[in-house]
Amino acid sequence: MTASIIPPQTSGHQIEKEWKEGDPFDWEQVHDRFTWKESGRVNMAHECIDRHVLEGKGDHIALHYFADEEEVIYTFSELQAEINRWGNVLKNHGVHKGDFVFVFLPKHPYCHIAMFAAIKIGAVVGPLFEAFMEEAVKDRINDCEGRFLITDDTFLDRVKREEIPSLEKVFTTNEKHGVNISITTEAKKNSDQLATEWVDLEDGLNIHYTSGSTGKPKGIIHAHRNMIQQYQTGRWVLDLHEDDVYWCTAHPGWVTGTVYGVFAPLLNGVTTVIHGGRFSAEAWYEVLEKARVTVWYSAPTAFRMLKAQPDHLHHNYDLSRIRHILSVGEPLNPEVIHWAYENWNLRIHDTWWMTETGAQLVANLPTRAIKPGSMGRPIPGIEVAVLDDHGHPLPAFETGHLAIKATWPSLMKEVWKNPEKFASYFPYGKEWYLAGDLAYVDEDGYVFFQGRSDDMINSSGERIGPFEVESKLLEHPAVRESGVIGKPDEIRGEIVKAFIVLNDGFENEAKLLQDIRAFVKANLAAHAAPREIEVISELPKTQISGKVLRRKLKEKDSVCS
Ligand code: PRX
Repeated sequence: MTASIIPPQTSGHQIEKEWKEGDPFDWEQVHDRFTWKESGRVNMAHECIDRHVLEGKGDHIALHYFADEEEVIYTFSELQAEINRWGNVLKNHGVHKGDFVFVFLPKHPYCHIAMFAAIKIGAVVGPLFEAFMEEAVKDRINDCEGRFLITDDTFLDRVKREEIPSLEKVFTTNEKHGVNISITTEAKKNSDQLATEWVDLEDGLNIHYTSGSTGKPKGIIHAHRNMIQQYQTGRWVLDLHEDDVYWCTAHPGWVTGTVYGVFAPLLNGVTTVIHGGRFSAEAWYEVLEKARVTVWYSAPTAFRMLKAQPDHLHHNYDLSRIRHILSVGEPLNPEVIHWAYENWNLRIHDTWWMTETGAQLVANLPTRAIKPGSMGRPIPGIEVAVLDDHGHPLPAFETGHLAIKATWPSLMKEVWKNPEKFASYFPYGKEWYLAGDLAYVDEDGYVFFQGRSDDMINSSGERIGPFEVESKLLEHPAVRESGVIGKPDEIRGEIVKAFIVLNDGFENEAKLLQDIRAFVKANLAAHAAPREIEVISELPKTQISGKVLRRKLKEKDSVCS
């Protein structure tokens, strides 16, 4: 195992100057960095945007957007002015502190502007993934009775207003006039000055819906206090320096896109790159070259796809500016780390965290040796353990439940209207938060991910609850019963595989299976649609409760394939 250790490459990292391995560290130390330490007044929008303008960095580039032929730049001052105009529009239309404002937009500066406009006036922002279809959009807004939505005209056919009774106002980023409010048109008529709604550290900041193995997605609410850990991990784990150009490839509808695509870089005052559109190896290499990206945060699926390109495609691009690469969301294969090290001459630093944890907890710091296959070690201020089924710590190399010593600054504030769900993360008392992941720790404290302890599916780093897919499948007239599992896949980590029992009168034909897949894709989301569907005569179930035994389906699948 030790043979493949990769030592730290470079020096000059932020953490090097500020902390030595083994030194004590208390999150309180980070409080000094924020103005609320003296004023008692806090708002994430102030710390990400206004503060940099006040400190004389208004001309520094905040956002650099690329899509096809288009390129748009916002300085911190320009971004501030636009956020203020949008915030005024929202206020004029009755958005108040504590209201939920959903943002359903593509990767574009408007998405950042919409989020901060809502946050600056004290609202709780709910970013929705751009590929969500009507059911996913509806379920999320209905769950917290959202009254406000900011979206794009081209997404409107996925917003079924008649099925979302709480929704009072829909703002669109297009200039057309219709039943909706054109936020871009109205913004032009509004002032670029807007007073910040000062809130408490504990007040709600954002909501992300996340899947577990049972039931509909749950609303995870985070508070403004998250900024402490998001700023600090941006500084020490992402190693952001003021002159960096930073690119996080995730959409803000996923927690990584919000925390490390929006908040962490701007808290650190660095230029953030936004790339519109979908993955293509050429387009991504082009962004890295053209934007002169220095720090890049992405996911294993993307790295695997880049590795799979023929003829060393990367040789055609100048990637020499990149100095730090990070990964998150799913296991990062040792082969990929070695490939990047050989081909790009850079280490990929794995990081581990969850929607619920609000920021990174385990990571490969730039100053530490990497053991490929490990997610790294707990970051300063975080303690982890591996527990057995009774909540007792296990020795090194024994696999058990990955647990984090509570609490840390960015832990979720609540699960929306679901205190039982919140409590379920602490099955052995308040001391340990359980991630639902299985792992072991080696003799040096490096954490090795071993899988999930529940049925959650992780496809291309996207968390998919089997229950949501099973329920959608049952709505198809041909499907009588359904069981959904994650099936191992070389590129995506896992793919969604469905086992179905057909209703009488339906034949097991390729066309029908295609139709069923298209049905899930059109109603839920493309990433949730089963890539494989297998028709069986009966589903394995528990005798007492009749619940689908997904574990048995997994066993059956691995024997057959
Ligand atoms: O199973 C772990 C996996 O993703 C889960 C969290 O998913 P989500 O809330 O969508 O957040 C993803 C990005 C923060 C975890 O419980 N996961 C996350 N990071 C890693 C990982 N699995 C292996 N290695 C990782 N680095």
